[in-house]
Amino acid sequence: MANSNIKNYPKNVGIIMDGNGRWAIKNSLKISQGHKKGVEIVRNIVEDSVKHGIESLTLYAFSSENWNRPKAEINAIKKLVVEAINDQVEELKEKKVALKFFGHLDEFGKKILDKIKYAENETQTEKNKLNLNIALGHGGQQDIVDVIKKVSQKVIAKEIDLNKINVKTVLKNSSVPVDEIDLLIRTGGDKRISNFLLYQIAYAEIIFIKKYWPDFTSKDYIKCLYDFSKVSRRFGKRLNY
Ligand code: FPP
Repeated sequence: MANSNIKNYPKNVGIIMDGNGRWAIKNSLKISQGHKKGVEIVRNIVEDSVKHGIESLTLYAFSSENWNRPKAEINAIKKLVVEAINDQVEELKEKKVALKFFGHLDEFGKKILDKIKYAENETQTEKNKLNLNIALGHGGQQDIVDVIKKVSQKVIAKEIDLNKINVKTVLKNSSVPVDEIDLLIRTGGDKRISNFLLYQIAYAEIIFIKKYWPDFTSKDYIKCLYDFSKVSRRFGKRLNY
């Protein structure tokens, strides 16, 4: 079975942590308690990612569309983000895990923005073991729109030559801190992308897991890493058989 010596583990992992709400309902708990349990799972998966040499872990914590949820739930998630930073920054520093938040962060207000900046500054080291990227107020489509606006402005200002725009230009001007996701995992049973990253998952292997996020275990995660290591990734090329 899987062990840390396997060389073909993914470098960059993305996770859509779905099912907190349904897990809470199944266990006769409040929705916010589902999200709380979800944060505990994040802690385990971060630890496993460090252990198994994953370079970056990108988590979908709050989508652009999540603003349509009840205010109480939005507030509970905001509170959890602040609590997670307060509780875990020291541990992340020790483990050399560098935090980075991305998305329309301004919409979360000054208090959360300050907290995020503090967490990012505190956890930057010269030799990070893991880059932990948290999507907050992120939508893949919105990010592409933002890139179009930014690049257009640079073209108008003659900083970029229109004819030299390529895939790298888009990645460089995106707020997403990782260029290429190798493995995307979605828990919760649904088989969709829900506007997560989009541009960066062009060649990602995708694994859909039936379990709700709060039931996702280290064993499940390591099985995903192992299953990924067995896949032949051709990137459109013909390999020699
Ligand atoms: C999806 O479950 C989960 C979310 C929208 C929120 C996830 C957020 C966290 C786990 C907190 C993140 C905080 C940090 C610091 C990483 P859902 O509520 O959509 O589940 P459902 O589909 O069963 O309703």
